Amino acid sequence: MTLDHAPAPTRTAVIGLGPMGTALARALLAAGTTPPTVWNRTRSRTEALAGEGAVPATDLAEALSSADLVITCLRDHETTRALLATVPPEALRGRTVVVLASATPDEARTTHAWATAHGITVLLGAIMAPVPLIGTAEAQILYAGDPGLVEQHRDVLEMLAGRTEHVGENPGHASLLDTAMLEVYFAGMTAFLHAAAMVAHEGIDARTFAVHARSVLELLPVTVDGLAADVDAGTHPGHEDTVTMELAALEHMVATSESTGVDPALPELMRRLARSAVDAGHGGDSWSRVVDVLRGRIGSPAS
Ligand SMILES: NC(=O)c1ccc[n+]([C@@H]2O[C@H](COP(=O)([O-])OP(=O)(O)OC[C@H]3O[C@@H](n4cnc5c(N)ncnc54)[C@H](OP(=O)(O)O)[C@@H]3O)[C@@H](O)[C@H]2O)c1
Repeated sequence: MTLDHAPAPTRTAVIGLGPMGTALARALLAAGTTPPTVWNRTRSRTEALAGEGAVPATDLAEALSSADLVITCLRDHETTRALLATVPPEALRGRTVVVLASATPDEARTTHAWATAHGITVLLGAIMAPVPLIGTAEAQILYAGDPGLVEQHRDVLEMLAGRTEHVGENPGHASLLDTAMLEVYFAGMTAFLHAAAMVAHEGIDARTFAVHARSVLELLPVTVDGLAADVDAGTHPGHEDTVTMELAALEHMVATSESTGVDPALPELMRRLARSAVDAGHGGDSWSRVVDVLRGRIGSPAS
């Protein structure tokens, strides 16, 4: 006779069943692990999941007591802390609470400090994936805090997102990287919309322009690596491009924006940064020098 020494499957609870929390609960159900307990302030949101096999809890304390791993996905961290504070801290001890609400790094650190002060084991996460990708290999969730917690629960966490990444012990760093990645994404989306509006004025539709925009986007990975090397080294050699040269392109963007009736605020911002670097005597440096304007080390972003 052989004895089965496999560890008992982790019991999970998902607290907060908006679109994202519901997707997280569905990912656990789809993975075939122990069905998650689910709880939501508005109870009707548990009904569809209950029909799919999840276990609705009648109250928050019951949901918490049913689980080793508690996954919270509420609107924000303030809401999360306020909700968790409605139960005695003892109800949360002995479990790992994963907080997946979006936050600033400071908010995430506040939640970590609050939890630690109450003897609650917490892991701070940031979801870098839209709802339809949750539970797939492509979905990415970043975690910050005790790396041992990620390893302890990796099997379950990977049911939520194939790309489960621990990014550091500082509890704010998942939220920091999430926010920083979103900035790159939003800047790219907004620049595309601005440029599409300019070309549309001259009769080129957005889909036609998208093909050209994609060819520029293909340059970005190498460009970003080069910028990163310059920023880390603090050197901005200007061998291949200079801020002065880029300033001419930015003047064209502002002028074309104005002539096509499109709000020039975005290219004007970039032009201000470039002019500031040039005025501070760095026109011969490469574009990466703009980081020093942004940091307030040279020139002034407002000039
Ligand atoms: N949806 C996405 O694509 C996506 C992507 C990445 C990250 N996120 C993050 O995931 C988190 C959840 O997002 P979501 O899209 O699911 O919807 P959401 O609208 O941001 O959050 C809805 C959830 O928060 C609960 N809630 C709000 N205020 C509450 C309170 N005072 N007490 C108790 N529960 C409260 C809601 O309960 P009720 O149902 O009772 O209102 C619901 O469960 C957010 O931080 C969001 O930024 C979402």
